[in-house]
Amino acid sequence: MSIEFKSERLNIRSMDSNDWKSQRFVNELKDFLISKETSQYAVYDGWYPTDDSGIMRMAEWMPRDNDFLAVRLLSDDTFIGYIFHKIREPKKLSLGYAINSAYQNKGYGSEACRALFDYAFKNMGVECVEAGTANANTPSVRMLEKLNFRKMSERTQSHRKDEHGNPIEFIESLYLYTR
Ligand SMILES: CC(C)(COP(=O)(O)OP(=O)(O)OC[C@H]1O[C@@H](n2cnc3c(N)ncnc32)[C@H](O)[C@@H]1OP(=O)(O)O)[C@@H](O)C(=O)NCCC(=O)NCCS
Repeated sequence: MSIEFKSERLNIRSMDSNDWKSQRFVNELKDFLISKETSQYAVYDGWYPTDDSGIMRMAEWMPRDNDFLAVRLLSDDTFIGYIFHKIREPKKLSLGYAINSAYQNKGYGSEACRALFDYAFKNMGVECVEAGTANANTPSVRMLEKLNFRKMSERTQSHRKDEHGNPIEFIESLYLYTR
């Protein structure tokens, strides 16, 4: 089901394959993905393409299941990032997020997550939210703490391989938020 909600400064809505027909959106998505891939924290998350054909291919899978929600500025509709949400267990929402580095540290990440929680607790029968992040990903850890997530456990995780094909491992903490 397609969803849309707003917060004070943001519009958050399901992605649609039609979004990729807009050159402005494609440019903003590319800018966002390049900022994500060139970040020092990229190694702690899955890989996304940054070339033009890869970005166009994302139109096929990113809107699937409505798991990825585009985060846009209410002021001028600029695409600044996404929040990922999925119900994997009954009443529990899995959360992921990324904001273009040019727009980070302005409160947009936590504002988008808070708006999602309001929406999900009210409309999706959700009772708690889980998220996982690398202990070394300071902005992500800070944001979860600021949102009042509780750290539940740690595990070894890997999303990428090094140039020799060996998994790049890191310690990931799993967090839970209950209203
Ligand atoms: C995690 C992320 C979404 C936070 O987005 P954001 O819009 O900057 O978040 P906010 O502005 O709401 O800030 C949340 C907290 O992070 C801190 N923070 C933001 N950027 C930071 C940085 N570069 N270094 C250190 N702390 C930072 C803020 O200071 C704030 O904490 P505070 O209020 O105690 O100061 C963003 O850093 C990001 O997209 N990172 C790359 C993708 C990623 O790592 N996703 C998680 C994968 S598991």
